[in-house]
Amino acid sequence: MSRIEPMTDHAELLRWVKEVTELTTPDQVVWCDGSEKEYADLCDMMVAKGTLTRLNPKLRPNSFLALSDPSDVARVEDRTFICSKNREDAGVTNHWRDPAEMRATLSPLFSGSMKGRTLYVIPFCMGPVDSPLSKIGVELTDSPYVVVNMRIMTRMGDQALKKLGKDGEFVKAVHTVGRPLAKNEQDVKWPCNPEKYIVHYPETREIWSFGSGYGGNALLGKKCFALRIASTQGRDEGWLAEHMLILGVENPQGKKHYVAAAFPSACGKTNFAMLIPPKLYGGWKVTTVGDDIAWIRPGADGRLHAINPEAGYFGVAPGTSLRTNPNAIQTLAKNTIFTNVALTPDGDVWWEGLTDQAPEGLTDWQGNQNWTPESGTKAAHPNARFTSPASQCPSVDENWQSSQGVPISAFIFGGRRADTVPLVYQSLNWAHGVFVAASTGSETTAAATGKVGVVRRDPMAMLPFCGYNVGTYFTHWLKMGEKLGDQAPLIFGVNWFRKNADGKFVWPGYGDNMRVLEWIFSRIEERGGATETPIGFMPRFEDLRFEGLDFGPEQFHAVTRLSRDEWMRELDTAGEFLDGLGAESPIELREMVGAIRTRFQSESAQVSPLIGSGVSPTF
Ligand code: GTP
Ligand code: SPV
Ligand code: MN
Repeated sequence: MSRIEPMTDHAELLRWVKEVTELTTPDQVVWCDGSEKEYADLCDMMVAKGTLTRLNPKLRPNSFLALSDPSDVARVEDRTFICSKNREDAGVTNHWRDPAEMRATLSPLFSGSMKGRTLYVIPFCMGPVDSPLSKIGVELTDSPYVVVNMRIMTRMGDQALKKLGKDGEFVKAVHTVGRPLAKNEQDVKWPCNPEKYIVHYPETREIWSFGSGYGGNALLGKKCFALRIASTQGRDEGWLAEHMLILGVENPQGKKHYVAAAFPSACGKTNFAMLIPPKLYGGWKVTTVGDDIAWIRPGADGRLHAINPEAGYFGVAPGTSLRTNPNAIQTLAKNTIFTNVALTPDGDVWWEGLTDQAPEGLTDWQGNQNWTPESGTKAAHPNARFTSPASQCPSVDENWQSSQGVPISAFIFGGRRADTVPLVYQSLNWAHGVFVAASTGSETTAAATGKVGVVRRDPMAMLPFCGYNVGTYFTHWLKMGEKLGDQAPLIFGVNWFRKNADGKFVWPGYGDNMRVLEWIFSRIEERGGATETPIGFMPRFEDLRFEGLDFGPEQFHAVTRLSRDEWMRELDTAGEFLDGLGAESPIELREMVGAIRTRFQSESAQVSPLIGSGVSPTF
């Protein structure tokens, strides 16, 4: 049960809660224990206030819908700050402010910001509670919506306090919606503030978030801690915090490998993590360790081991269906909080892509009744999300809570690219793999506010999440490879998103990505066939299996063809990007641009993956 009185004798935690309470002046302070009763009580309270709608318990047991303010629907990257003492430590890809200046800016904003509200103390553990790789955070928030989401996304409450003990270390995270209430003032359903600040102080491991109640802006264990703060901890302590899914893949002979894959926001991590192989893969198993974040460390065996620091999924709803991701559909069948999806007349949820036809009588994500496809708007916001417990995922891996993590055999990097980048390629070595990762580009999506569909460089899918100088981060990656030597995972690039002249995706994607995963598996096992190209090793037509697909050499050519012109442009812009990162950007990576250009130039005229039985990578 939540309590008003402190539930700890951790002196620093008590001192800090008192300090923040005096600053933000909430009406009361409640310590969260993480119990089911506390969760249920908070949900009931939010239903009474109108923040949550209880869904039909027959169709969607113990589940709720939240509709946010239309101005508060995604992470706000241009309001996200890394406040290290030195500007160089934040690097050119982060918004930097001097920490003292930022504290002076925030102080009046946080002063009295929780007036009329309750301050909830949320102790949480990122990673399995018994794991030496896990870390503790405490979020102080005036949003009960945040509390219930944090209970799904993290190991929250008493278990975290117990691990923290009397003097354990923890990351301090303060969050306010920035909407104090005057005496007797009626609250709105989704309080927030037009002014927003998502602020990190990497040196003191602190997070201060003002003005937003949504996702990564407010659930501070996720991007703010598990990526931005944790990446700096990883730099200092010799490990990696990455924007990666982790999956297990096992062949019919029982041989199993784990791989971790980084794709930018809303580019298919959840889908790939929960992949169901096509029929022809009888006996193969794909299992899910995580869908968004991986904490990765060298283990005693000299290999990299990864844990998923989260306990739930905060997944993109639109596009999720029984066809694209049946495991996700089962995961969100119950005990789920939906945000910004549409409501059906019988009290269930709907979003674009869930079914071919929209049900009649929908209430859209902005609360407009009787939405129809003709209305010209989306029923669900493109960044609408579901928050569901990972334990409900049918494909959850048997080792997903292993305290030592799972050994990683390969890294995969990918983005949304309509052209240039082929379906799959393998780097020539670790350093070249770091180049592939560092120069990853992607068309922007709805997960960040701003223009959608513009190609931007998104190194390691970490552009908005690396808490320090991205050049130093690349060096950290290069050094990691040196340390691991021949135990280092293989590195691959993928692109599910090549389009044909009609603007349609050529590769079927989703479950059929298994065909690419099988090739990666075979490369790990040193069996898979390949041909060497200027950008790395690529499968020939005969090296992938296409049974059950209408996919011949022509289509294969369309997804694997390397165009010299496109790659010259690609290398130019990748080079400009790496050069623009400042003095810390490793020379080794910058020199690779020229080396790959030379490899292209020394190739005889035309190459296409049409070798052997017909098709091999060509230029
Ligand atoms: P964050 O949670 O924002 O970090 O993103 P995520 O990478 O987990 O995103 P998610 O898996 O939810 O991506 C969803 C989007 O990717 C939807 O638009 C899907 O339709 C699309 N998508 C996922 N897999 C594939 C694929 O194999 N092919 C194609 N064409 N689209 C895909
Ligand atoms: C992302 O944008 O990459 C997410 C969603 O995973 S959020 O937690 O809102 O950042
Ligand atoms: Mn993400």
